[in-house]
Amino acid sequence: MAQRPYIVGNWKMHGTRAMVAEARAIDRAAERLIKVEVALAPPATLIQAIRKEASLIGVGAQDCHTAEGGAHTGDISAAMVKDAGAGFVIVGHSERRANHGETDADVRAKAQAALAVSINVIVCVGETEGQRDAGQAEAVVASQLDASLPRGEHVLERVTVAYEPVWAIGTGRTPTTEDVAAMHRAIRAKLLEIYGEGAEAVRILYGGSVKADNAAALLAADEVGGALVGGASLTAESFVGIVVAAAERLEHHH
Ligand code: PGA
Repeated sequence: MAQRPYIVGNWKMHGTRAMVAEARAIDRAAERLIKVEVALAPPATLIQAIRKEASLIGVGAQDCHTAEGGAHTGDISAAMVKDAGAGFVIVGHSERRANHGETDADVRAKAQAALAVSINVIVCVGETEGQRDAGQAEAVVASQLDASLPRGEHVLERVTVAYEPVWAIGTGRTPTTEDVAAMHRAIRAKLLEIYGEGAEAVRILYGGSVKADNAAALLAADEVGGALVGGASLTAESFVGIVVAAAERLEHHH
């Protein structure tokens, strides 16, 4: 972890205003752990409330539309989430890819839409269990990266990649640290191929069943620059445990 580790909570479709207190508690804890960059991606309905309550943590959206605006009932544009207080947007989460049929081209267009309004973007990739069993995990992820990552100016300052094996999400199962390291090295190589040398600075997060008790091992794997956390980000108690693990990992490194 060359840079500040980045720990991002993805609340998915969880959270009403009652949970703003949880975000506030996470923000307070982050003040004591400033070596770690902490962020939350709550449902869009809570972005504004959490942005108001939290002073230190990043706040982002879980998705945005590809278009700037228009006749798209129920959708939200990148400019709108930015206006609500989001500093970043997650695109290409496997649940969006699976539940909404999002293709790599859609994911890239969403990422470009985020960059067009000058917010950061976390691009998610990851293989299914069948693809891993067939020995295709690295090839699948490489092709997702090729076709999903945004291009153009300021990409390198704004893009983060999240590797989330689909079979590890919400299952309590994780790849071995060796498998995580191998995939993250492959992702780094691909990023260098796509973006050139500047891609050394792009953080690659691991996601999928990260908990306080496995975070240290996963974060210690080669090329892992942080974590994208679902279930364990829903309470300050479990999420802060992961942030602490990231901070401790940093101590050991110095
Ligand atoms: P999980 O979800 O931590 O609940 O496995 C991770 C994610 O989908 O980002």
